[in-house]
Amino acid sequence: MLQVKNLVVNYGHVEALRGIDIQVEKGEIVAIIGSNGAGKTTTLNAIFGLIPKVQGTVHFKNVDISTRKPHEILRLGMSPVLQGRQIFADQTVYDNLLLGAYTRFKEGRDRITKLIEREYARFPILKERKNQMAGTLSGGQQQMLAISRALMSEPTFLLMDEPSMGLSPVMVLEIVKTIKALNQEGVTILLVEQMAAIALKIAHRAYVLERGKIALTGTGKELLQNPLVRKAYLGA
Ligand SMILES: Nc1ncnc2c1ncn2[C@@H]1O[C@H](COP(=O)(O)OP(=O)(O)OP(=O)(O)O)[C@@H](O)[C@H]1O
Ligand SMILES: [Mg+2]
Repeated sequence: MLQVKNLVVNYGHVEALRGIDIQVEKGEIVAIIGSNGAGKTTTLNAIFGLIPKVQGTVHFKNVDISTRKPHEILRLGMSPVLQGRQIFADQTVYDNLLLGAYTRFKEGRDRITKLIEREYARFPILKERKNQMAGTLSGGQQQMLAISRALMSEPTFLLMDEPSMGLSPVMVLEIVKTIKALNQEGVTILLVEQMAAIALKIAHRAYVLERGKIALTGTGKELLQNPLVRKAYLGA
């Protein structure tokens, strides 16, 4: 479903990605793990057309999206949950959800109302807080809103950047449950996580990113047992 080939991204003189290859098949959860500054966010942002590529190609559903803009990629069915959540703090929960559906406005009010109801069913707290300003939600609630907003475009492919960041252990479990449920609903997921133990447990396959290069790849299970991964990322 997604093929990234020889992706190179620089920020001025900083070589953030030094030629990486990533593949995601339909139905998979694929994780990218790595320490701070390894290039995880850069990878997702470059795939979604938010930052320019120096080299390399990205194909999504056999379409070359290497030079496409985010709104075009969104229409192809890829939706991002970006790092830091990026919700509109001074808009209500409801309006944030509505804004997530902008690719669907043509389909009319009823359709969008249905999609919002679907998200309220997924996260009942969002319904309770629908008229509250998004910036006043707790961290966990904001993460739910960010996920729900991304789902309003009915993506077949979800990019997630550190969904567990800053959340309590209970909230992290809630998000993990949601990711698994979404995957079971048929959504393919590329998940970036610093919490390697969590990511490797839910991922079918994973990539270990180190200083802009793929250092290791394998199934989630294999990497969980890999001594190098255990030492560097699992504190074992
Ligand atoms: N806008 C930018 N300008 C200059 N350098 C940048 C910029 N964004 C990222 N970098 C650098 O590129 C490298 C990769 O950053 P990136 O944000 O992709 O890492 P990350 O793996 O997502 O890290 P984290 O786990 O901390 O989110 C880092 O060395 C970072 O300092
Ligand atoms: Mg990051």
